[in-house]
Amino acid sequence: VYDLIVKNGTVVTPEWTQSLDIAIEHGRIVELGSLKTQNAKEVFDAKGLHVLPGVIDPQVHFREPGLTHKEDLGSGSRCAALGGVTTYFEMPNTQPATDSQEQLEWKLQRARETSWVDFAFFVGATPANASQLGALEKFPGCAGVKMFLGSSTGTLLVDSPSVQAEVLRSGRRRVACHSEDEARLKSRKPLFEKKGVGSHAEWRDEECAVLSTRNILKLAREAKRPLHILHVTTAGEIPLLAQAREVATFEIPPQHLTFSAPEIYERLGTRAQMNPPIRTKIHQDALWSAIQSGLADCLGSDHAPHTLEEKAKPWPTSPSGMPGVQTTVPVMLTHVFHQKLSLQRFVELTSAGPARVFGLKNKGHLALGYDADLTLVDLNVHRTITNEWSASRCGWTPFEGFRAVGWPKATLVRGTFVMKEGSLLGSASGRAAEFAATV
Ligand code: DOR
Repeated sequence: VYDLIVKNGTVVTPEWTQSLDIAIEHGRIVELGSLKTQNAKEVFDAKGLHVLPGVIDPQVHFREPGLTHKEDLGSGSRCAALGGVTTYFEMPNTQPATDSQEQLEWKLQRARETSWVDFAFFVGATPANASQLGALEKFPGCAGVKMFLGSSTGTLLVDSPSVQAEVLRSGRRRVACHSEDEARLKSRKPLFEKKGVGSHAEWRDEECAVLSTRNILKLAREAKRPLHILHVTTAGEIPLLAQAREVATFEIPPQHLTFSAPEIYERLGTRAQMNPPIRTKIHQDALWSAIQSGLADCLGSDHAPHTLEEKAKPWPTSPSGMPGVQTTVPVMLTHVFHQKLSLQRFVELTSAGPARVFGLKNKGHLALGYDADLTLVDLNVHRTITNEWSASRCGWTPFEGFRAVGWPKATLVRGTFVMKEGSLLGSASGRAAEFAATV
């Protein structure tokens, strides 16, 4: 007897789109095809909907512990469920930073108690823990090592090339990097301090990112260690990454595919401030070509909430970051509607892509034996994104007023509905995602 059959939906994978029913038992996909419903405890009629592999967001900041006035694992994961995201990987720049087994265990335990969807946590690299990272990255529930090559929000930073090399020698899994060159950031800051947020992308310019990415690719090749470059934002990095497929994967955020300078800074002020910055159209076009050519490996929202009060500080003391985990699906489906990418490519970037990059077990594919993580979407819904819809504790979204075409209608995590028609269902029963490298 099946626990659930999702019937009459249009099932989408990176390779094909087909009208199929999906049978689920004990949280796993056990059959795909034209299925009889008499043996199912529950049948969900997905007529008119597209059934996608559960969306994986490999870069979010949920702020717990220490910064829970901005977000916590409960509120952040509710945003995920409401936005059609079934698994997230959370970043280590909390307070305290996630740089030890004790801190990893704390987050995992807290997430088991309060997370609505499945999760994993990055461990942050520091000069002090560099030699222990090989052991830390094997901890079950750890997504891998995150290294800040340039400083952003929080204190995590590894800017010395010799320590970067030490981090790359310690362990085997793919190292996720925030790639901006710290020395260049520091030396340019005084040139812009008296100017406004409109110069955010001039301070942290293309060269900051290109220099840093070139350097870390060289070190990774020497160490024979795979890399993942987080939130790639410049035209100049794309050819470097195209020549580095053997060593590096990379991510692009929906914000950089949707917003551009100078317009976004004029309209949103410091709310548009994030690192690496939103840049001009030339960069946006290059990012789209990396999406369209198949080069980019995944999307990541870099959900990084700050309160409006914090954001109201004068630049550059205003914090960088904006929420995003809840808006990835409607924003990117709208780009699908406008034919910027196919629905199958969107699916690849949000499921098979991140699963391949990070070596996820049992997730990222609609196939027999995999976790029944599903994102059900209605491509015909026209709806405007509002701050009211946003469930983030920060209370705002940079996409306020965005006219979306396509909307998440239901979210299933391991066969259980956690969201239907915009309402949360059940309880917070997320579990740690598993990785081939930690089993
Ligand atoms: O804009 C950003 N905000 N970029 C980061 O790298 C960190 C993030 C945050 O945590 O606020």
